[in-house]
Amino acid sequence: MLDRLTIRRPDDWHVHLRDGAMLKAVAPPTARQFGRAIVMPNLSPPVTDVAAAEAYRARILAALPAGVNFVPLMTCYLTDATDPAEVRRGFESGVFTACKLYPAHATTNSAHGVTSIAHIAPVLEAMQAIGMPLLVHGEVTDPAVDIFDREAVFIDRVLTPMLADFPALKVVMEHITTAEAAAFALDNPGGRIGATVTPQHLVINRNAIFAGGLRPHAYCLPVAKREAHRVAVRAAVTGGARNIFLGTDTAPHMVEAKLSACGCAGIFSALTALELYAEVFDQDDALDRFEGFASENGARFYGLPLNEGTVTLERAPLDVPEQFGAGESHVVPFRAGETLAWRMVD
Ligand code: DOR
Ligand code: ZN
Repeated sequence: MLDRLTIRRPDDWHVHLRDGAMLKAVAPPTARQFGRAIVMPNLSPPVTDVAAAEAYRARILAALPAGVNFVPLMTCYLTDATDPAEVRRGFESGVFTACKLYPAHATTNSAHGVTSIAHIAPVLEAMQAIGMPLLVHGEVTDPAVDIFDREAVFIDRVLTPMLADFPALKVVMEHITTAEAAAFALDNPGGRIGATVTPQHLVINRNAIFAGGLRPHAYCLPVAKREAHRVAVRAAVTGGARNIFLGTDTAPHMVEAKLSACGCAGIFSALTALELYAEVFDQDDALDRFEGFASENGARFYGLPLNEGTVTLERAPLDVPEQFGAGESHVVPFRAGETLAWRMVD
């Protein structure tokens, strides 16, 4: 039995670092585990231009202890009014790594998101011309569509026509949760379609949200699906698909915002991200495929160099804290109070 695993330093291709006191609390744990991270732009107000992204990047770097080697990769929040010239300028100057498509009202701070792909057609034209990836929150917001079907319907109604209309556009299906999304990624291995998978969607199904009562800390978007979907997504990940990569979607909210009559969506996993995933690969007898998922597939998709350096995990109990202090309050981590089977060695 393998008890110690050293892999190339990994990257997290989907994080929410927030701003202010929350940023100061959550940026260091992500930088401890990962060499780079794709930073989501859904601040309030959102990061919609180059100047805002440069200022946010500077605040992220200022939130890290001196000497930490971590590269935040910035994204541009698309709106119906995004200027293609601004996107191109941001990408060509190395400020923007990608653009994020939030369908309007699909999730946290998405009110300024895109109401129809037609509105961003000139932006998508520019992006495919320069090879800039589009990161997609793949859920429709049509109130007639059941919340558990929003991802699968998005693939049919929005993603498939968009890929036909923009045949060179590179797309990451963020935080996939369904058998349909996993199959779509597996059917498109050629380097044009990527997908990220969170730790929670590998571990929990929708029962977790209702286990003995309402469980706000198991609520995120896309919402966890039925067991057959979890199994299908997990098989794609630990089966070693080369276009599927690590993206935690770590999404901290203060406990008061979670425990509310209208609680926020988001699961905070940054403290123990690598350990959560390592446990999954270990359970599936796939530890030999963990490095590809964590440290290689994403960089290759984005056309970035692999990180130098390594991280080491050991098979040893790790207690997940009940809470994590942030500013005046705290965040409750994913699997708080539980013991994980792997631990990163500092
Ligand atoms: O659960 C989620 N939380 N899903 C998202 O898409 C956004 C995120 C957040 O920003 O809190
Ligand atoms: Zn997210």
